[in-house]
Amino acid sequence: MKTLNLLLLIIMVSASSLFGQKKPQYDESKVPDYTLPELLKTSGGKTVTKKKQWEKIRRHEVLALFTNQVYGKTPDRKIPMQFHTQSIDKEALDGKATRKQVRIYFGRDTSRHMDLLIYFPNQVKAPVPVFLGLNFTGNHTIHTDPGILICPKKAGNERGMRVRRWPVEEILARGYGVATAWYGDIQPDLPDTFKEGVHQLFFKPGQRKPAPGEWGAIGAWAWGLSRAMDYLEQDADVNSRQVAVLGHSRLGKTSLWAGAQDTRFAIVISNDSGEGGAAITRRKFGETIKDLNTRFPHWFCGNFKQYSNRENELPVDYHELIALIAPRPVYVASASEDLWADPRGEYLSLYHAGPVYRLYGLEPIIDPEPPGLEKPVSTGIMGYHLRNGKHDILLYDWSNYMDFADKVFRK
Ligand code: GCU
Repeated sequence: MKTLNLLLLIIMVSASSLFGQKKPQYDESKVPDYTLPELLKTSGGKTVTKKKQWEKIRRHEVLALFTNQVYGKTPDRKIPMQFHTQSIDKEALDGKATRKQVRIYFGRDTSRHMDLLIYFPNQVKAPVPVFLGLNFTGNHTIHTDPGILICPKKAGNERGMRVRRWPVEEILARGYGVATAWYGDIQPDLPDTFKEGVHQLFFKPGQRKPAPGEWGAIGAWAWGLSRAMDYLEQDADVNSRQVAVLGHSRLGKTSLWAGAQDTRFAIVISNDSGEGGAAITRRKFGETIKDLNTRFPHWFCGNFKQYSNRENELPVDYHELIALIAPRPVYVASASEDLWADPRGEYLSLYHAGPVYRLYGLEPIIDPEPPGLEKPVSTGIMGYHLRNGKHDILLYDWSNYMDFADKVFRK
């Protein structure tokens, strides 16, 4: 009987690894020893000790590595944009808010566009600080407000189905505006759909997919956030020097990459972004590069594929992504049951990005151990919390982001 059980176990284990369904590694004692790439060492071997050296040499090197090896290159070419205000309601949400809906056309031809929904708090004088983030299921799903235009019209994506992720009233009550757009307006979240998103605007004649060093879907979504910022910059109701970019999960990876590239974002927030976002990949805890490349081959650039099962060969690790945000404030959040995203690894990225913040005379997080459950830590320039519960973005997370933003913006 014992031998039979053993045999069955062996068959099961080999079958699951055959089909690539290896169990995720969630055992802290099995995290391998690893050496992080040196954040403050230039490719020429010089140690960076001053912020000028960081800004002039090392920051460019790190950004180039993330560009060429991870997310792919975002096209430099500017495309002409048009902003078309579709509706303004100054008495939205029982008079508490002004709701604006703006269609942002990418290019002169009006076939490609992104719809931006913005709520402004009526009780504070303009211009106001704004939280900007993409949503997964359509603008009309973030609130039950019947005035929100429906997009996309998809069965299942009902009005208000995602209210738990967008505590609009609480955000407004604290004096912040909130702006969002549906990520699918920019680029569909499916492999081999590059012809359907903004990639197409930049393809060479006959090109059907990005070259190995060109942007993937995360690059496109991050580009979309920058286009939303282009709009916010010229809206007189927005304090465009106080725009915090945030995102959950794959959209948290996106907000980090947007914040790394576009310095107009005053605060960058990652909610449960995990592997390919805030988490240190060399820890090999939870999701791995191979998981990302296998299940979501369209998110990263072609060059990233070579690092499946080769985390240690990736010339960067994700603390360097956080460092690209310096000297701007950055906040990372995790959830206790979200082991797939590696909460500890997400915290450690912040911790290891500290030396760059220190070059600016700023106070990073200095504790190598993450704080306990729902014990947020913040130095005013870096913040972190571990929420109790599952992979999600909830009021608890938002409240901490607003506390952090209050400090940063001295509200
Ligand atoms: C999957 C994926 C993660 C991602 C998440 C999400 O779980 O493996 O990398 O962050 O989806 O976007 O919800």
